[in-house]
Amino acid sequence: MAHSIVIFGASGDLTSRKLIPALYELYRKERLPPDTIIVGLSRTKFSHDSWRQRLAESTARYLGDRFRSDVWERFAQAVYYQPGDVMQGADVAALGTFLDDIETAPETTRLYYLSTAARFYEPIVVHLGAAGMSSEDCASRRVIIEKPIGTDLRSARKLNATVQRVFDERQIYRIDHYLGKETVSNLLVLRFANTIFEPIWNRNYVDHVQITAAEGVTIGHRAGFYESAGVLRDMFQNHLMQLLTLTAMEAPSRFDADAVRDEKVKVMRAIRPLQQTDITTRTLRGQYRGYRDEPNVDANSNTATFGVVKLNVDNWRWKGVPFYLRSGKAMSCRTTQIVIQFREPPHMMFDDGMGDWRDANQLVIQIQPAEGIRLHFQTKVPDAGMRRRLVDLSFNFRQQFTGEMPDAYQRLLLDAMRGDASLFARSDEVEASWAIIDPIQAAWDAAGGPELGLYEIGQWGPPASTEWMQNQGRQWFDSCPVLH
Ligand code: BG6
Repeated sequence: MAHSIVIFGASGDLTSRKLIPALYELYRKERLPPDTIIVGLSRTKFSHDSWRQRLAESTARYLGDRFRSDVWERFAQAVYYQPGDVMQGADVAALGTFLDDIETAPETTRLYYLSTAARFYEPIVVHLGAAGMSSEDCASRRVIIEKPIGTDLRSARKLNATVQRVFDERQIYRIDHYLGKETVSNLLVLRFANTIFEPIWNRNYVDHVQITAAEGVTIGHRAGFYESAGVLRDMFQNHLMQLLTLTAMEAPSRFDADAVRDEKVKVMRAIRPLQQTDITTRTLRGQYRGYRDEPNVDANSNTATFGVVKLNVDNWRWKGVPFYLRSGKAMSCRTTQIVIQFREPPHMMFDDGMGDWRDANQLVIQIQPAEGIRLHFQTKVPDAGMRRRLVDLSFNFRQQFTGEMPDAYQRLLLDAMRGDASLFARSDEVEASWAIIDPIQAAWDAAGGPELGLYEIGQWGPPASTEWMQNQGRQWFDSCPVLH
């Protein structure tokens, strides 16, 4: 089956930084199906060759040593450019004519990748429908939608409804690039291809779960987007909620799109909604010092660049086990990790006050950048009576497997081409997640919301975050991963 990948927003950052390098890498590894063509559309007037040249430069910049000009030359022969304004139905229809002309195979699957600013998603989809470019009469037509899927529940519903009027839900692929990370899909393998974890993966053995996505970078030049998004919309509604559902869900009966997504939705529906009175006790927000001086940031901005949300999943498996979600910019380091903290032993016979149970019995799943898993436990120090020390068993992907850890977009693009939506978000999943985030965002935006704690760049958020966790008899796993 031949494929056409049509990128709306061809001159944008995502295209040059992620999509084209991922497609080139798939081609280099001989994974891109033969007869794949790539067509970019945006308003800038490029010729096919000038766009190829521009992409060659950016791809070489992003891939470094992995870029080979001889391979690129072959890959670039299947890359085309069509100038057009997505707000003009005639331009979208002209794109359709162009595709009809260059698609030589009788049945070509088309993937329309929406990589423009989100305000253009609905018009593009409507124009595709009007031009008869969404119908599956003779071949598959799919649409891939980048985040953000709305900015709240209402706008997400509206977008979903518009897209579903033109495409059937099984033709719609909503990207959350975290789902394409190898370590994230490994959560399914870790939990459901082994028997040893599942018996203890519940309220009887787990004290709490911490899910942290910390970034060392500041917002840089992204104020235009970030000022209205903030950390909740940018990281919690999508990436952190996905990590939570994969950690908490029941075993799907099959690895297929609906079975996996049904289980994730069940978790979200079991999350206890936060009431107004919970917001000050169960959430924290912060802003790094200097944020208000970033280019185009309001001098009085209250946008949160750091947040903590404590959620409970009210079902038999997790009743009473808090899930702490935390994310921030300008923190100590870049690390995304899930910490499963097991309970302390029911009776401590080594009653010598040495050692802290809270550091032991932790399973740390490092999503990035030092991808791996580490189990922390107490052990006896030899030749020292019953003195104990914390040690760990570690598994590191890069040590165990040769080859690069592929970028998430490689996996996701290939899955979309194959028609496998397991690692894409379904409409009900996105909406259920907004339903959890909306009340928190509303309370944070309202006058009298929780205090916005300032933190120095390079810290683990505001000092109040550490105290808050200590007041619950717990401590954050504030550890930067060691890269090997
Ligand atoms: C994006 C957010 O979705 O994810 C960014 O918009 C964030 O603000 C990025 O930096 C993090 O992705 P990753 O893959 O670097 O963890």
